[in-house]
Amino acid sequence: MLVLGIETSCDETAASIVKDGREILSNVIYSQVKTHAAYGGVVPELASREHLLKIRPIVDQAFADAGMSLADIDGIAATSGPGLIGSLLVGLTYAKGLSFSTHKPLVAVNHIEGHIYSVSFEHPDVEFPALALVVSGGHTNLFWVESESGDFRHLKYKLVGKTRDDAAGEAYDKVAKLLGLGYPGGPIIDRLAKQGNRHSIAFSKVKISDRSLDFSFSGIKTAVLRMIKENEQLKEDPLRLDLCASFQETVIDMLWSTTSRAAELLQPRSVLLSGGVAANSRLREVFVERCAEAGLKFHYPKPILTTDNAAMIAAAGTAKLLRGETVDMEVNADPNMRLAVSDRNSPKRRWKA
Ligand code: KG4
Ligand code: ZN
Repeated sequence: MLVLGIETSCDETAASIVKDGREILSNVIYSQVKTHAAYGGVVPELASREHLLKIRPIVDQAFADAGMSLADIDGIAATSGPGLIGSLLVGLTYAKGLSFSTHKPLVAVNHIEGHIYSVSFEHPDVEFPALALVVSGGHTNLFWVESESGDFRHLKYKLVGKTRDDAAGEAYDKVAKLLGLGYPGGPIIDRLAKQGNRHSIAFSKVKISDRSLDFSFSGIKTAVLRMIKENEQLKEDPLRLDLCASFQETVIDMLWSTTSRAAELLQPRSVLLSGGVAANSRLREVFVERCAEAGLKFHYPKPILTTDNAAMIAAAGTAKLLRGETVDMEVNADPNMRLAVSDRNSPKRRWKA
C-alpha cells in the first residue's frame, strides 16, 4: 500500500510517500525557520502564506523523489489537527483537492498520533502496552498506548499526563530567546549545553501537588528570567553555557521522573519517546541509560523523524486506511484536536483508587 502523507500543522511544509506504513520512499521537509527566526517564534499568518507557496512544489518533489506519480498511490493522509488553523487548512485542503480529483481515499491524521508512529519505522516490533512520551514545541503528553492487533495497526490511546502550562520545547525556545540565542532554541541549547556544567545552577523542581502525572515548565522559564535580571553575566559565556546545561538537565530530570513514576505505576512493556524535543542528544542519553537501569525497553526515532515530517503522518494514515477510517470532503481542520482524554477507565484511576 502506497500512501502520500502531507503535514502542515505548524512551520514545516512536508510531504512523503510511504510503502506499507514501513518503508519511506521519499520524505521532503521544507522548514520555514528563516521566516520566523526574526520574531523568535512562529508567526501564524506568515506560516500559512508560506505553506500556500510551498505545498505544491513539496508534494511534487515527494513524488519525484519516490519516482512515482499520483496515479501510483493508494491513499492520501493529511494532518487535520492539532496545530495552527491557517497552516492546517493549507495541507488538508490540498489533500482534499487531490482526493477529489483522483478518487483516492483520504484519511485525516492527528499530528500527535503521527509523532507516536514516527517510532514505527525503525522499531516495528514495539511491545504494547507502551508508555509514549510526546515532547514537542506545542505538546508534552504522556500516553498509555494499547494495541488491539499487537502491533502498530490498531492503537488506542489514553492520556495519563500532560503539561499544565508550557510545552518542553516551548521552554527551550523561550529560554533561548531570553539568552539571545535565536530560534528554534532546542537545537542551540542542546549544542551549547555540551560545553557547560550540568550541575552548576540549581533550579527548584516543580512539585505538582496532587498525585497526577502532569508536567509544568513555565516555572523554570521564569526562574531563568529572574536569574538573568539579577546577573547579566549569565548571558555571556562561560556562565551562559552552564545555564544552558543546568536548564536542560533540570527539564530532562522532570521528564524522566514523571515518566519513570508512570512506568512504575502502570508497568508498560516499553517506553516510546517522540516529538521535536526527542532529537535532544542528552534527553536520549538519559532515557537510554535510565530505562536500561529500570529494565524498560526504550525506543525513539532517528532525528529526521523526530521533528515535524510527513512520513509519520503517512504511517499513521496507512493504519487508518487499512481500518477503513476514511473521511469525505466535509472534513475540517481542528486546531485543538485531541488524541485522547483521560476518562473514568483510564489507567490514571488505577493508582488514584
Ligand atoms: O515536533 P516539532 O517539530 O513541532 C511541534 O509539533 O511542536 O517540535 C519542535 C520543537 C521546538 O520547540 C524545538 O526547539 C524543539 O522541538 N527541538 C529540540 C531539539 N530539536 C528540536 N529541543 C531540544 N533539543 C533539540 N535537539
Ligand atoms: Zn510536531
